[in-house]
Amino acid sequence: MTRARPNQARPDAERAAGARRRSREANRPRPDGVRGPRDAAKRPPVQEQVVVLDYGGQYSQLIARRVRECGVFSELLPHHADPAEVVRRRPKGLILSGGPASVYADGAPPLDPELLELGIPVLGICYGMQLLARELGGRVEGAEVGEFGRSQLSVRESGRLLAGTPHEQTCWMSHRDTVFAPPPGFTALASSTASPVAAFESVDRGVYGIQFHPEVVHTPYGQQVLTNFLQGVCGCERSWSPSSVIEEQIESIRHQVGDGRAICGLSGGVDSSVAALLVHRAIGDRLTCVFVDHGLMRKNEGAQVIAAFRDHFRVPLVAVDASDRFLARLQGVTDPEEKRKRIGAEFIRVFEQEAARLDGVEFLVQGTLYSDVIESGGGTGAATIKSHHNVGGLPEDLELELVEPLRALFKDEVRAVGAELGLPERLVWRQPFPGPGLAIRVVGGEATRERLEILREADAILQDEIRNAGLYRELWQSFCVLPEIRAVGVQGDARTYGNVIVIRAVTSDDAMTADWARLPYDLLEQIASRMISEIRAVGRVVLDITSKPPGTIEWE
Ligand code: XMP
Repeated sequence: MTRARPNQARPDAERAAGARRRSREANRPRPDGVRGPRDAAKRPPVQEQVVVLDYGGQYSQLIARRVRECGVFSELLPHHADPAEVVRRRPKGLILSGGPASVYADGAPPLDPELLELGIPVLGICYGMQLLARELGGRVEGAEVGEFGRSQLSVRESGRLLAGTPHEQTCWMSHRDTVFAPPPGFTALASSTASPVAAFESVDRGVYGIQFHPEVVHTPYGQQVLTNFLQGVCGCERSWSPSSVIEEQIESIRHQVGDGRAICGLSGGVDSSVAALLVHRAIGDRLTCVFVDHGLMRKNEGAQVIAAFRDHFRVPLVAVDASDRFLARLQGVTDPEEKRKRIGAEFIRVFEQEAARLDGVEFLVQGTLYSDVIESGGGTGAATIKSHHNVGGLPEDLELELVEPLRALFKDEVRAVGAELGLPERLVWRQPFPGPGLAIRVVGGEATRERLEILREADAILQDEIRNAGLYRELWQSFCVLPEIRAVGVQGDARTYGNVIVIRAVTSDDAMTADWARLPYDLLEQIASRMISEIRAVGRVVLDITSKPPGTIEWE
């Protein structure tokens, strides 16, 4: 659990001590190894769920999301999770994901045979299928040629798993090891060019396997196959939806917070906004939101946050215009990491000062998402890459107990909840925006008020045009960069020496990789000519056509 730095200025030390005690008690592991009551309170009380065991596949999170899209709650656990952890969730089904290893490689993640004795139907996907085949006496071998990308699936017998899908269909494959013979007693349902057994099942044993990836869009009948498993085999009902979380979370927040008071830092992003709205629904005006305007936001963003929360939702809101303080801290700083550090430190200082003015706050609301939970638990490279992005986060030692109502949700589900709660479209669909804001987009130079203003105006034109073209939601991010260079130009017979604006627009699923967006030429022309004619200081506009990797999304 995250704790905050002692808040010396807070008058009610006793209540705070009470909260500390409670949160320590709540987090102490119980003798049965189960995490404390707070953890249980955070998890929605779901009647039915399916557990996905993650064998390191690129699409594991996607499997969990697709299961949820079928109306069944699902959680992703690491492949080495104790079977007791699985049992504790009382899942109606278990899915073993794909993974990069060969089942024969040294150190390949194994299958705990106990998982097959739980009486729960099991579906293995790709590596998961190969594990099942090997464990149960089938024949798995490394094929001469792997099968990567689109493949043709020929269905011999539909069985339960492939029911309602055509005899010939395309699917998406990504494997080298191949199942050559199913385990004894199993029916081979389908084959593909390079996979003699591309799907098998044993209804008696409740074990099913597919070599292809049902979770990716390139497998057109993938969702049908998942539905067959979830409904036809596991007997799940379509009872879960992101909005069904609302009532559950409100109840669980009330249970956790009791008659206490909470504080929430709003950033203008969808996560903190939705978290705040849920908590406000649960505890009303005992929630206070704090919005720190560091002067590094996009044009009108601060005003939009204030209008939505204070004026529309009537959430108690402390809005602090701290732009002078932040700009003063950024004076003379050109190194990007130093900018991040100073902004992060200043943010904490301002937030703590505001929090100290509020009486009796024991809880801190945070918009932690399920992907953050998975990443921080997994100890994967992903967590390391993101660690430098925690600027704008709060200190590790806050003496406040965390309320994290979005811990079970993926980003798209958070948006659905936000829309259901009536959050304005602009906030629901806002593209990700870095904590240090525009400061890290004034590149190679100091983020002065003047330079930030040029960037902000250019950015506003870009956003405006991209929205008008109906492309805003298709892009992961679209923004401008202002590098510390100038270029010669000519405007109305006169020589100019103006700033250069870089347009950066990318598509991505998760920011780990990204492709530069192919914006229409006419749109680019319109953007460039507006920037040059409407912003005096801009003399030239260029487009960044670098993907990630090798580039990163931001320039600094
Ligand atoms: P990069 O540039 O590493 O960015 O490809 C990946 C994603 O992270 C965002 N980003 C940040 N977010 N604080 C943040 O809150 C930061 O310092 C920061 N730097 C990058 C970036 O906008 C992209 O979505």
